[in-house]
Amino acid sequence: MAEVVIVADRDEAGRLVANEIARLVRSNPQTVLGLATGSTPLPVYQALRESLEGVDVSHVRGFALDEYVGIDPAHHESYRSVITREVVEPLGLTPENINVPNGAVEGIEHAGADYEERIIAAGGIDLQILGIGTDGHIGFNEPGSSFASRTRVKTLTEQTRSDNARFFDSKDEVPVHCITQGLGTILRARHLVLLAFGEGKADAVAAAVEGAVSALVPGSAIQLHEHVTVVVDEAAASKLSRADYYKYAWANKPAWQGI
Ligand code: GLP
Repeated sequence: MAEVVIVADRDEAGRLVANEIARLVRSNPQTVLGLATGSTPLPVYQALRESLEGVDVSHVRGFALDEYVGIDPAHHESYRSVITREVVEPLGLTPENINVPNGAVEGIEHAGADYEERIIAAGGIDLQILGIGTDGHIGFNEPGSSFASRTRVKTLTEQTRSDNARFFDSKDEVPVHCITQGLGTILRARHLVLLAFGEGKADAVAAAVEGAVSALVPGSAIQLHEHVTVVVDEAAASKLSRADYYKYAWANKPAWQGI
């Protein structure tokens, strides 16, 4: 099952994951990162500024998880803009090496397959950062998504649109459609790192980590992967039945294992 690491706060989570990413990039300058948006991964991107200091990142490659369909890429809240602002610019990555699914309406019917080809051509994703939605979605794979799914267009649930309305002037502005890496795409990444903070994520985390593997909880797909690290604060861990064991296992983890 997933390794669960319960940390004190977001900063500690950010440092833990950033250190692992920096280790990867030092050992392979062409590391391929799977980049998530939303508020959850921000502490990782913040901590990376320090962890990657002095490391050559010019060859690092990245693939965003998802994008809204029909949004102007220049819009402040397009995931292209968010990734550029939060990751590419502060870390000094090479913009041409960073991919985001193409959410333009024109050509949308083959945008998913094109993205899959690009991921494969890059040799696959080494480390995929994930957040989780309150309804258990990862990427934008809403409940009901196939575990075999590849990058494709999905319809957002009303719950996700309401959750994400805080980034827009109103809920009406949140696009109805998105293009997202599929659960099957995510499961092909070599290491999954799922982060979650706050009580509002406690149910989704418990369902994903300890609940039944079910398309109704897309995050439960992580139980099918051989290398998963779930990094949560106490509040997000509060509904995990085996939290004490996870703490015990982490405290006794052999140093050579890393995360
Ligand atoms: C968004 C993103 C997801 C993200 C999730 C949680 O809809 N598409 O990748 O994990 O919602 O967002 P947040 O981290 O802001 O709670």
